[in-house]
Amino acid sequence: MILILDFGSQYTQLIARRVREFHVYSEVKPCTVDPRSLDLTQVKGLVLSGGPASVTDSDAPEFNPEWLSLDIPILGICYGMQLLAHHSGGRLGRGAAREYGPSTITVENAQGLFASWSKGERLAVWMSHGDHVEQLPPGFVVSASSSGAPIAAMHHTSKPIMALQFHPEVVHTPQGKKILENFVYGIAKCDPDWTPEGFIEQSIGRIAAEVGPSGQAICALSGGVDSTVAAVLVSKALGERLHCFFVDTGLMRKGEAGSVMERLKGLNLNVELIDAGARFLGELKGVSDPEQKRKIIGRVFIEVFEEQSKKLSGVTHLVQGTLYPDVIESVSVRGPSATIKTHHNVGGLPERLKFKLIEPFRELFKDEVRALGRELAMPTEILQRQPFPGPGLAVRVLGEVTAPRVAILQEADHIFLEEVRSEGLYAGLWQTFAVLLPVHSVGVMGDGRTYEETIALRAVYSEDGMTADWAYLPEALLRRVSNRIVNEVRGVNRVVLDISSKPPATIEWE
Ligand code: XMP
Repeated sequence: MILILDFGSQYTQLIARRVREFHVYSEVKPCTVDPRSLDLTQVKGLVLSGGPASVTDSDAPEFNPEWLSLDIPILGICYGMQLLAHHSGGRLGRGAAREYGPSTITVENAQGLFASWSKGERLAVWMSHGDHVEQLPPGFVVSASSSGAPIAAMHHTSKPIMALQFHPEVVHTPQGKKILENFVYGIAKCDPDWTPEGFIEQSIGRIAAEVGPSGQAICALSGGVDSTVAAVLVSKALGERLHCFFVDTGLMRKGEAGSVMERLKGLNLNVELIDAGARFLGELKGVSDPEQKRKIIGRVFIEVFEEQSKKLSGVTHLVQGTLYPDVIESVSVRGPSATIKTHHNVGGLPERLKFKLIEPFRELFKDEVRALGRELAMPTEILQRQPFPGPGLAVRVLGEVTAPRVAILQEADHIFLEEVRSEGLYAGLWQTFAVLLPVHSVGVMGDGRTYEETIALRAVYSEDGMTADWAYLPEALLRRVSNRIVNEVRGVNRVVLDISSKPPATIEWE
């Protein structure tokens, strides 16, 4: 595998993902990790990531220079390059040559990382640095230069140590993939043996060993991609010893609790439906504040789950479909004591239940999990399901959540989705949903005046939910949806379209 030490760059996870795209396993560890604490026999290459600090700052991230004397090929990127230079006897310059954004480098030494090009060739790259290497450390030569950074890349003449001032992992460096590939295959000599199939096989073995011959696990399924693929994978290792629950909060989309259960049973999972709709609605009575709603739903969910788990004896493990971006928003670069934000969808389960956690996707991204799901022959209906928030329709019924208001939203939302699906647009959108606004407005139906509720339509494109663009849906589709909602859903006389991007709006209204 390729090990990546994280110095806090926003791009670190991308490096791991790029490497895995070459079918080579890759893992990110905080830069503070002690080399002696890891099994280094598996590590065929080491990447030192970028980061926001200056190497010479007194509060620069801690780093054990022993990493540099191990017999492992090393690639330093941006901060990683400055760190390498600093520890190898080079000199850094600060400030004057700051570069943020597109730049062009010229290949000076067409070998190693640049073996795919010839001397003098120019490549578009993405720079993002304040400091730069001003004088090469002994034993190093320039591999590429740019007008802003005469030492835009360097390598050691006899050891497999190299570094880049720019970011090869971002799409704005079009040839970056090739550069990284040269490191992974050409220099670190990794084999492309990390495939979804291999990952599944290894995970099954690991989970079976971890849980042991008599241990049992539980898993809360939401019907979403992550938890379902996790459950299917774990069930391959544990069979009936994995007990899944699907909690119907009464806040799912129209008919969804039933269809999700059908699909889960089709996957041969040992799954039980817990109908807790009345309980959730009861607890939400009179509550309008969004954060209050989230807290109540989180608490009730844990209570329900806890009660169920107590009915089973011998449960030792809890399965969660946590992904890398869920776990770590900002990796600690100041040591393990610094904050690591965790935001599990159903909040607090692990802490309360004292089970050991099984999180097979902690290192993975959503599209990698989808690929595993395909390998596990799971239906595309599940794998392509759009994200749905844990608190469900409670954060889409603005104002008080009552059974009649949830029913109105379910009907309107169902019509919207049905039409979007029939146009073949569902899979291309990140999320598509209706929102019930706490607004009554005047309308006219037949000969009478109405004073009824308002539905807002929201459809967005997004890569990861962090930013989003509103979707310009076809006019004819919007017309159909609006007509159908007003005609078919009792209590709604107006439909509006949300044309806000994130930021400054969020995807959900609450
Ligand atoms: P926002 O509204 O913050 O949403 O732009 C970003 C993504 O997160 C989902 N979301 C949630 N998911 N619990 C969840 O499990 C929540 O409380 C929650 N709030 C928002 C949202 O649907 C979108 O995909």
